[in-house]
Amino acid sequence: MSHHKKGSDLFYEIQHAFIGLNTEYTLATGEATKRIYLDSTASTLMMKPAHDAVEKFNHHYSNTHSTLHFGAKISTDYYQWAHDRILSFVRADPETYACFFTGSGTTAGMNRLARVFKHSRPEKELAIVSIMEHHSNDLPHRKHMDKIIHVPLKERNGKLGCVCIETLETICKENKGQLNYIALTGVSNVTGIMNPIYEAAEIAHKYGAYMIVDGAQLAAHVPIQMCDPHNPNRNIDAIVFSGHKTYYPGSPGAVVARKDLLLSVEPEEVGGGMVRDVFVDNYVVKSSFPDREEAGTPNIPGAIGLAVAVDILDRIGMHFLFEEEDELIQLALKKMKSIPDIRIYGETNTDFCKRVASISFNMKELDHGLTAAILNDYFNIAVRNDCFCAHPYVKEMIMDDLMLGIEDVDMDDIADYVELKRGMVRASFGLYSTKEDVIALADALMEIATNKDKYTKQYQVDSHGNYIHTSFQFAFTPFYPIK
Ligand SMILES: Cc1ncc(COP(=O)(O)O)c(C=O)c1O
Repeated sequence: MSHHKKGSDLFYEIQHAFIGLNTEYTLATGEATKRIYLDSTASTLMMKPAHDAVEKFNHHYSNTHSTLHFGAKISTDYYQWAHDRILSFVRADPETYACFFTGSGTTAGMNRLARVFKHSRPEKELAIVSIMEHHSNDLPHRKHMDKIIHVPLKERNGKLGCVCIETLETICKENKGQLNYIALTGVSNVTGIMNPIYEAAEIAHKYGAYMIVDGAQLAAHVPIQMCDPHNPNRNIDAIVFSGHKTYYPGSPGAVVARKDLLLSVEPEEVGGGMVRDVFVDNYVVKSSFPDREEAGTPNIPGAIGLAVAVDILDRIGMHFLFEEEDELIQLALKKMKSIPDIRIYGETNTDFCKRVASISFNMKELDHGLTAAILNDYFNIAVRNDCFCAHPYVKEMIMDDLMLGIEDVDMDDIADYVELKRGMVRASFGLYSTKEDVIALADALMEIATNKDKYTKQYQVDSHGNYIHTSFQFAFTPFYPIK
């Protein structure tokens, strides 16, 4: 990779530089083709230059927290750089904010934040989340806070949009005394609908609350600005995102949060590295970051790989990337809307709601599991199906579909029926996704829509609700013998 390239030149180079774009599988038709990876919202592919940088780093690998031997010095310097780079990636002022790595994604960080915010102001017992949250930005707040309100979404022509800012403000006003924080996702992992997080931050601050952002679906796709130099009321107090969704699978979750809030409570995890001194009857926790928040040996190569990946994203330019991906989403929506029997969930008019990375849908008369299986087995298109860890949101959107067939179902079988039908198919995109991928998806969906019986006949449902092809068995050459 050229270290001088920037902007669109770098984008066109990096777009092809991902591991796994050329992987081939043999399909039910007997043909071997390259897979089309449309599951980036779950996990993105690995950016090769970041992978290569870490491979080079591995020759120096050592634990951090020592500068005595050469390898330890290199590890310590690069690991420190990784924190600084994440802070600058999200435009957070390093005087005010700290970055630390935790767990293997957003979930661990969100659990930590819920606890910190609760303990920093125990008298404020309420948190507001939205109905569209991933469970990772819902359950931690339910667990730590005494009271949760799920703010509703805008609705237009029966389609749900982003969080309704006016209702959010009303709820904040009514609960001013007890409101601790608002925690919102920047982008839904189901519909890709974007939330007005900076407006929400302004409202939170107006009513004495803090603003936490679930950045899991932002970091790879949308510019993030935690500090607004023109209006600090729009600052975000804490954000969390997943490295494995930001082009470096195998990296940790990243948390960026205000230092004063983190300092208000002893860190959740205690152990080596985070203490200044330990006595048999006492210990003194460090006040310096990130050490204080990172007990034990961290995922050093993962964090460095993630920092290289976001460095490259920044050199391409997040605004540029956002525009590029927007064109792709617009194309996908247009093509999918023209296919009979496809129902796309959530607001599809992007003048009302911007969409990022994900489109969830169902095809009339086909269960989500069957559509996903056909796309995989016959077209080599990898999508995800089910409820995407956002049960309340998915259920709210598919309730009408569920009700359609329910009269014909035996009372004893209702639970199984709901389990089978409750879900959607999600196609999701990343930096490496192309117009050709979108066209391949649209063509495949059109072919399925026009030949439903032909494909349906090939499948049986097992007791777990999985659609199993009756004659085709997937095979691949193991990359390492495990049996
Ligand atoms: C919006 C959102 N929040 C949180 C998470 C949880 O992230 P992780 O599985 O990396 O902990 C996800 C993962 O899909 C997500 O999409």
